[in-house]
Amino acid sequence: MKTLVIVIHPNLEQSSINKRWIEELNKHPEKYHIHELYAIYPDEKIDVQAEQRLIAQYDKIVFQFPFYWFNCPPFLKKWLDDVLTYGWAYGSTSGYKVAGKKIALAMSVGIDEEEYSASGKYKYTMEELTRPFELTFEYVKADYRPLFAYYGMERNAEKEWMEKSVPLYMDFLNSL
Ligand SMILES: Cc1cc2nc3c(=O)[nH]c(=O)nc-3n(C[C@H](O)[C@H](O)[C@H](O)COP(=O)(O)O)c2cc1C
Repeated sequence: MKTLVIVIHPNLEQSSINKRWIEELNKHPEKYHIHELYAIYPDEKIDVQAEQRLIAQYDKIVFQFPFYWFNCPPFLKKWLDDVLTYGWAYGSTSGYKVAGKKIALAMSVGIDEEEYSASGKYKYTMEELTRPFELTFEYVKADYRPLFAYYGMERNAEKEWMEKSVPLYMDFLNSL
């Protein structure tokens, strides 16, 4: 069973690390289905039924995105609002179509990990900052898994830093 990797990056052309991760995922088409939201819906009008049909086909779903303003890019929020509909994702006995599916976030982060802690500049851990995702996916009875975050992309511009993330991300996906 393949893993569905939903990529939400508003400017993939300019991306370093998300583009590199996609390149790696593309080497294993038997393992990963990549679904790039901004490429599929350049006008940001989501085909909700097509998305729901896609989700139905996978038991492991990863949302991959760069961390922007302590949050996800806006199109992911819109995707959640549009696709997790009443009667499909929750709210009726025939709903809960996402129930039991393994769902995780995979994020590239500009700032260093130490700054995302109680004693750091940004006070909160990434687990704390992503609580709305945890609650959303628990609300629809999905199996929300611990997130993957790769930090320090702003300070470490070197290619080696980015390359180090690749096996870590692949291990994370394999262990889902
Ligand atoms: C609009 C914008 C907002 C950002 N906000 C944050 C932030 O709140 N925290 C952080 O650690 N990095 C932040 N960054 C840095 C990005 O997370 C980083 O550039 C990105 O993960 C790199 O991924 P890419 O090479 O695929 O674009 C921000 C970058 C942009 C462009």
